[in-house]
Amino acid sequence: MLRQEQNDLLTRTGPGTPMGQLFRSYWMPALLAEELPENECPPVRVKLLSERLLAFRDTDGRYGLIDEFCAHRGVSLWFGRNEECGLRCPYHGWKYDVTGQCVDVPSEPEESGYARKIKLKSYPLVKRGDVLWTYMGPPDKQPPLPEWEFALVPPEQTYTSKRLQESNWLQAMEGGIDSSHVSFLHRGDLHHDPLFKGAKGNQYNLSDSRPVFEVVESPGGLYIGARRNAEDGHYYWRITQWVMPSFTMIAPRGNHSLHGHFWVPIDDGTCWTWSFDYHPIRKLTEAEVQAMRDGKGVHAKVSPGDYRPVANKDNDYLMDRAAQKAGRTFSGVEGIAMQDASLQESMGPIVDRTKENLVSTDNGIIMARHRLLRAVKALTDKGTIPPGVDVEHQKVRSAAIVLPPDQPYKVGAKEALIARPGVAPASV
Ligand code: FES
Ligand SMILES: [Fe+2]
Repeated sequence: MLRQEQNDLLTRTGPGTPMGQLFRSYWMPALLAEELPENECPPVRVKLLSERLLAFRDTDGRYGLIDEFCAHRGVSLWFGRNEECGLRCPYHGWKYDVTGQCVDVPSEPEESGYARKIKLKSYPLVKRGDVLWTYMGPPDKQPPLPEWEFALVPPEQTYTSKRLQESNWLQAMEGGIDSSHVSFLHRGDLHHDPLFKGAKGNQYNLSDSRPVFEVVESPGGLYIGARRNAEDGHYYWRITQWVMPSFTMIAPRGNHSLHGHFWVPIDDGTCWTWSFDYHPIRKLTEAEVQAMRDGKGVHAKVSPGDYRPVANKDNDYLMDRAAQKAGRTFSGVEGIAMQDASLQESMGPIVDRTKENLVSTDNGIIMARHRLLRAVKALTDKGTIPPGVDVEHQKVRSAAIVLPPDQPYKVGAKEALIARPGVAPASV
């Protein structure tokens, strides 16, 4: 449970808000690289942290993320002409480069130097892996580029998708660190989903629906360990990584790829759910990539262009009561991603956390909120750089591992929780 002011603080991320300042300390996924596929391609509207921006790729292949609106009289530059190393407003021809600098005001004499005095707000936009990343904080505090393993492995080993989620970022992220729901909501999918099925760990998951949670602080956030019974008194541990503010990595299954999410606020009522799958030491097979494109595993089928899921709140997520009754799916909604999203969106745009009744399996969520509140306060009061900005905090992996009963997972899985290039993941 949170007090109303705490709930407001964690869920509001617009300019000038404390949580908005925290998000502006990090490199965040802004677009899929496929959205700007070639030089001089059409610009793309991007709303992030309640700011309306425009992304484009110029004649020389440079990426830019600038204010959506022309400095002259406020026209949306989405209508602009992407030509000769800049974006030209179609109304009176003012032109901007990728840094937002105005480079031409054709109605003014060139010698007046008027254009040089005009600059739109802009943020860096950098390709790493399949993602274009941005940093929206103060330029003098810009950290080094992100080093998440999924964005650094060779392209054949990784796949990233994004989908629109019609809820606040925090309730979406809380679903990512709540591994007790897997034994219920995703029960059917452990048998059927091509990206999950067949792992030995699934049997432990399904046979023990009362996991014991042990949550401990990590350098960048939390390790969330869920313990279930295995053979001979041993324990099956699933360890989720949460790195501030909104990166999660779910424990893997068998030889399947590792996967996880980022949640990035669009505004306070919607967010982008980013989903990635990668394998540290092998290529993804064609069948795996096809399954990801088809919305299996943690991905969803979306409509091209706006990345809104095909199953969405306007069609009741294609609810199938017969499948629910027969147990083919636990909730009646098809696919892991939309099972999560449907329930999280059903809470309303911002869930009222003053009315919750939390139990022991919600420990990860409780600790994550506290860590966020602490980091926001330290940043606001003292300018302390929050956890997760340091690239060392980003070199993490989730793990699934069977350990003897007397071995704490922090010890037994210590090496498995670090991303080391070329080293196989720990997975059961
Ligand atoms: S509004 Fe853009 S040039 Fe006039
Ligand atoms: Fe889930």
